[in-house]
Amino acid sequence: MTEIIKKPFNVREIREEFPALRQEIYGKNLIYFDNGATSQKPQIVLNAINKFYSKENANIHRGVHFMSQKATTEFEEARKQIQHFINARKAEEIIFTKGTTDGINLVASSYGELLTAGDEILITAMEHHSNIVPWQMLCQRKGLILRVAPINFKGELIIEEFDKLLSKKTKLLAITHISNTLGTINPVKELTQKAHAVGAKVLLDGAQSIQHMKIDVKDLDCDFYVFSSHKLFGPTGIGVLYGKEDLLDRMPPYQGGGDMISRVTFEHTSYNELPFKFEAGTPHIAGGICLGTSVGFLNSIDLDGAQKHEAELTKYAEHLLDTFEGLHIIGEAKNKTSVISFTVDGIHPFDIGTLLDKQGIAVRTGHHCTQPLMDFYKIPGTTRASFAFYNTKEEIDLFVEALEKSINMLK
Ligand code: ALA
Repeated sequence: MTEIIKKPFNVREIREEFPALRQEIYGKNLIYFDNGATSQKPQIVLNAINKFYSKENANIHRGVHFMSQKATTEFEEARKQIQHFINARKAEEIIFTKGTTDGINLVASSYGELLTAGDEILITAMEHHSNIVPWQMLCQRKGLILRVAPINFKGELIIEEFDKLLSKKTKLLAITHISNTLGTINPVKELTQKAHAVGAKVLLDGAQSIQHMKIDVKDLDCDFYVFSSHKLFGPTGIGVLYGKEDLLDRMPPYQGGGDMISRVTFEHTSYNELPFKFEAGTPHIAGGICLGTSVGFLNSIDLDGAQKHEAELTKYAEHLLDTFEGLHIIGEAKNKTSVISFTVDGIHPFDIGTLLDKQGIAVRTGHHCTQPLMDFYKIPGTTRASFAFYNTKEEIDLFVEALEKSINMLK
């Protein structure tokens, strides 16, 4: 295969692709540091959304007419692009969902049907609510047991404790690849090997990893990997569940409706083949196609350079924040990504977030949908700055200046 030579990553050039970054908020240039919540969209994705609804809008898999055929082809092409992007074996292993949460719920409902009372599901103490609550609901419904692997104060999984909780009873390890609150990168390949050694399946919550690193599901050998398009510079309301084909084949459908069937009578219904068995109803057609556009955009840029840039931003920001008295970074794992959560003694995160906002800086404040993690650190919440490759050191300088000003006002 010929290797495509890409232009080295250049943050100035990449910013040009994102119109949302060129605006003022309260008279200040926007500094967007809430990429953990959602990322901004490149012009090419915005154009694709416009083009689809202006000219190509039609339902898929249903029509003989030109537009329906074209939309179907583009939707299925997007599926293939995503397959190659995460190195899945087959396009059939790519199920379109509403997003990460929907993907986890699908697995909990469907794979959950294969489990029986007494079986165990293992999660970790750093999970997002969406990787806790669906398992609690499943455990209640089926009499399963939920185990939680603890973390240390740096925000790292305690591997010895994890090992103790893993047993022949464990039927699923459901774990975040990267913590949305702490930025911790979990050693998921090793954990997957350990889980497989006791016969457990593995679901990786990729909501925070897909946009920060090259994902190769074959190499990771996970059984499921879920992510959202909107964190990968694509539209909201669409996401992906990757699942190994043999496992998806054995799982019952999640929802009933159009497209997921092969034949329906009042007495009996047989189901469609993969991936359609899990895609009942008209999907988010524009979303799927435009997620494909986003993947194409990412394929065109130097992602190694982008990752290096993100790592530099994180180091730079942490170094500057280190000098702040009373500021505590929550999440100091050795292996972490471009997320900086922090608390400041005597000041509520919400107040910091509000004052930063008035200076044109978007951060997230609160519990970040990880209340058990807040309980662990005994804090009400954090202020979280999360960077994407389009952020700059100059923005960090302005953020640090604005933060200092905010803290002085609130003291
Ligand atoms: N889970 C997203 C976040 O961390 C929304 O902000």
